[in-house]
Amino acid sequence: MWELLPPRVRLIGAPCLSEHIARQIAQDVERFCNGLPRPLEAYILATYGIDLASEYAGLRVKNPFGKASGQLSLATHQIERDAAAGLGFVILKTVIAQDSSGEQSMREWAIHETRMLVEPIRGRMAEEGWTVTWKGRGWFDTFAAYRHFFAESIGAGQAADMLVVPSVKYHLPGGQETFWKEEEYSFTTLRLLETWIEACGNQPMPLEKDFSPTLAGDERATQQARIGEWLKAVPGLIHRAAPGKVRVGLKIFNTLFEDDFQLHMLDSVHRARPDEDRADFLVYANRLFDPAKKFEDKVGVAYGGPDLSDRNLAVLEKFLSSRSNADRLGELPLSATGDIHSGRIAAEYLLRGASTLQMHTIFQLPNGQFSMQTGSKTEKALHHLLFHPQEGLIAWLLDLKQRFGWEQAMNVHQMAEWCRKNWKNAVEELS
Ligand SMILES: Cc1cc2nc3c(=O)[nH]c(=O)nc-3n(C[C@H](O)[C@H](O)[C@H](O)COP(=O)(O)O)c2cc1C
Repeated sequence: MWELLPPRVRLIGAPCLSEHIARQIAQDVERFCNGLPRPLEAYILATYGIDLASEYAGLRVKNPFGKASGQLSLATHQIERDAAAGLGFVILKTVIAQDSSGEQSMREWAIHETRMLVEPIRGRMAEEGWTVTWKGRGWFDTFAAYRHFFAESIGAGQAADMLVVPSVKYHLPGGQETFWKEEEYSFTTLRLLETWIEACGNQPMPLEKDFSPTLAGDERATQQARIGEWLKAVPGLIHRAAPGKVRVGLKIFNTLFEDDFQLHMLDSVHRARPDEDRADFLVYANRLFDPAKKFEDKVGVAYGGPDLSDRNLAVLEKFLSSRSNADRLGELPLSATGDIHSGRIAAEYLLRGASTLQMHTIFQLPNGQFSMQTGSKTEKALHHLLFHPQEGLIAWLLDLKQRFGWEQAMNVHQMAEWCRKNWKNAVEELS
């Protein structure tokens, strides 16, 4: 099992705030217990001078919080609720790619799995957190049904200025295979693009390519060289299906190899020539995999919680530290995922250059974990992520703004860019 080397740069203790601001946040967390202020972003800008606007895949989002792909984004009513709650974006459940005859090379991921167990988990550094255990699979209905769902979701999102993004698992060569099923790439991408264009016109379609953590336990992912080939080939295969029309995001997974290999993966996606073979953005990083953990009849399941954020934050900081100033500026836009259960952790990912934050587990926590008692789980989570006096993003962005002397007009995207550019100063200040 890989060794966990915890991150060095952490936000420790309480955020440093003036008495006046601390009082305002304490009042707001109480005041909005029965419903968030609307419009949320305008309230936060007027009250705290924080512009929550950011970018996902180079597209503007009204705030940096999104729902990560999964069981909570596979039905239109879930997306409608997220739009009403105020999320900035949603990634739909991963669909398994197919060719024009309906063949799916990754069909073992296209099965119906419903039972999920939400349970506390203790990390290797003894921190307490939460994880969801299940057998881990993709969209199980037809591709036509997915396209219909995608269209309805875009509609629900547009009404609330919430970006909606598809996620796909395409063919990856395994075993003795040396070829790529390119038709799966072209057919699936083009059909999704048709749905997108009908609703959004010629704006490029962002798309996440899911390298799921269950791949870590699959025979396909036992060789480092093979994983390297996937990362190299996949962006070009998707781009070539519709040149200039799709923004490809690689959702990097946590392998069973040591951190050095995670760094190697990040390095190699950045080394691709800046043309169609290069990804447009990254999502870092999907859950950990425990080959020995048993759930029902299955041995080997994915998990999250504190080890996931510790590992992701540690790898991202090692990656930034290994790069020159010029290289850091040319890095791919980053959306973070992994145990984002507080604004504090969100700010720790932002310090490493993440301009958006996507969550799954927080939306499954028991109601008792939230101080907001009414509204949907998404609204409760946003209330907690933003307004918590010690753990919320408002408090931590104000702390960082003061520490680093950020200009008043900077939005969240610009803050993340600043952190990337000034990574070495940030390390000195915080470690
Ligand atoms: C029940 C469940 C289902 C998931 N399904 C998918 C999926 O279909 N595609 C995908 O890219 N990620 C999937 N994920 C990963 C999440 O999108 C997310 O990246 C990951 O859980 C880390 O975020 P979290 O710690 O907030 O849960 C799933 C996660 C869970 C817990």
